[in-house]
Amino acid sequence: MEKTLTQPETTTEATGVESPKDEQTPLQRFVHPSLPLDSIICGDNCDVMGTFPRECVDLVVTSPPYDDLRTYGGHDWDFYGVAWQLCRVLKDGGVIVWVVGDQCKDGSETGTSMMQALHFKTLGLRLHDTMIYATNKPPMNDRRYQQCWEYQYVLTKGPPKTANLLTERCAYAGSPTAARYRQADGELRDRHGPGVIGDTKPRENIWWFPSGNGKQEVVKHPAPFPLRLASDHVATWTVEGDIVLDPFNGSGTTTKAARELARRYIGIDVNSEYCEDARKRLEQQLLPFDAVPVDG
Ligand SMILES: C[S@@+](CC[C@H](N)C(=O)[O-])C[C@H]1O[C@@H](n2cnc3c(N)ncnc32)[C@H](O)[C@@H]1O
Repeated sequence: MEKTLTQPETTTEATGVESPKDEQTPLQRFVHPSLPLDSIICGDNCDVMGTFPRECVDLVVTSPPYDDLRTYGGHDWDFYGVAWQLCRVLKDGGVIVWVVGDQCKDGSETGTSMMQALHFKTLGLRLHDTMIYATNKPPMNDRRYQQCWEYQYVLTKGPPKTANLLTERCAYAGSPTAARYRQADGELRDRHGPGVIGDTKPRENIWWFPSGNGKQEVVKHPAPFPLRLASDHVATWTVEGDIVLDPFNGSGTTTKAARELARRYIGIDVNSEYCEDARKRLEQQLLPFDAVPVDG
């Protein structure tokens, strides 16, 4: 992938995550005057992104229509065009979170989501993490176990420039750590270090969000993802003032999360009714937000 910026120097910290040593360069923080910031745009995402300058977006959190599961008013979209535009508009160190599942057709899962993730790799992105979004769903059939999760592919242009990993409390905080650990060749070696399990640790990469627990906002869109999913990614991969894009904005979950966390946002959806609803959703009063950072 063509690059205009030098890769920031990276360190591998205790969490094992590469993170840039330095703040973003002035060029990385530059906001192009023609970018339609803090707006919801109605139109085909390829056409709209085609008007953006290159390397202008810090984070994309999005969920495209999966196979032919829902029609959303019957609009087409072009995966290869969208993938190419996303790679073009993403900044160096920027992140794409691609939330997808597969349809089961003629008795077999399509595997489309995996092919999409691999295509992003051919465009030069790193498959930084294959995360899972799990939820509770009603039983659908009696031939296989109930499908209750989707992929969250985390794709990055080089090492992510921001990785504020959310933490959770350790169940065994204060207990001694295992005294020995196994090496690659199978040998057991004595562990050196503090020897006690700390209070918190980075979260694991399966995120579970209950559906329909009565606490969520009711939106008209048929397939919104949870606000918490979007806000946790925004909090992880960006800092205040960064630019967050959702090219399949639907009910505006990503844009709402970005706004609540003081990031700049752009949402694109081809369906004008969804765009109108997403704009209304943004106007709703900002409530005290308890989702981030999560440390307990
Ligand atoms: C899975 S939904 C996204 C839901 C969203 N994450 C939310 O929380 O509401 C996919 C969206 O893609 C939109 N869409 C389909 N084709 C599109 C296109 N060519 N350009 C822009 N949006 C498109 C649909 O209208 C639909 O709202």
